[in-house]
Formats: sequence, structure tokens, C-alpha cells
Amino acid sequence: MIKTIVQVGDPVLRESCKPVEKFDDALSRLLDDMRDTLLDAEGAGLAAPQIGVPLRVACVNVEEGYFEFVNPVFVWQKGEQYGAEGCLSVRGKAGNVLRPSKVKILFYDRKGDRYSLVARDFFARAICHEFDHLDGILYTDKADHIRDAED
Ligand code: CO
Repeated sequence: MIKTIVQVGDPVLRESCKPVEKFDDALSRLLDDMRDTLLDAEGAGLAAPQIGVPLRVACVNVEEGYFEFVNPVFVWQKGEQYGAEGCLSVRGKAGNVLRPSKVKILFYDRKGDRYSLVARDFFARAICHEFDHLDGILYTDKADHIRDAED
């Protein structure tokens, strides 16, 4: 089901999200709703607090594919990249953010199976942006040259 995307100013975006404890039907429904909402909005990623649910769940939709991350953590972050980002919760804006160019993460899928993954370039950027949401951080906290996203 497509959900309303919470906009900046809503306190849920500033919560430190709680880990998922049960890999149950409610988690699957949350992930289905996040996918429907992200694909409808044509974004690169979405975190659960953006649909009002302060849990450590995020998804990204990038060239490499569609990924769901439950209780994700970084193993390492390497290098640097500087580039433009936007956010579905900060409509109409873009800004430049310094991010690692390569990350390794650990995460669970919706069934509770554990995986690791190495991502680079834009995929790494999308992961960093979404995982920040799980700690109540918005890209605008880190960005410079925030501007209208018409261009
Ligand atoms: Co965002």
C-alpha cells in the first residue's frame, strides 16, 4: 500500500529508530508498503521513519537492484565521494554531501537471514543516506549548497 511520506519538521524523522525484533507478517507488510511507496515516488531509497515507523528498516532502488535492509550496520566505510542528494522527506531541494565511496554492511532480510554486501559509488551513497535516517539524521544536516531541485 502506498503510504504518505512524512516531511521534514515531523518529529518521527528525528527519532533514533529501534531494531526489529520479530521477523513476522507485520515486518513483511511494512516492507511491502515501503516498496510500493518508494516505487510510486520514484526515489532511490526510503527509510521506515519516512512512513512514520521508527524501526531500523530501509530500502534502496538503484542500478544494482532493489534491496531491503533490516537492522543494518556498517562493517567499514572507505574513500570519499562528493555529490548531489535529495530526499523524499525534503521535497524540492537538493544539496551536496560528502560520503564514503565504498561501504561494507551487514543486514537481515525480511525472513531474518543475515547477509553482507559491498556497495560503491551511488549505491554506497544511497545506503549512507538511508541508514542516516535510522539515526534521525537528514542529508540537509550534512549538506552544503542546498538549493531548489528544479535543475
Ligand atoms: Co531521505
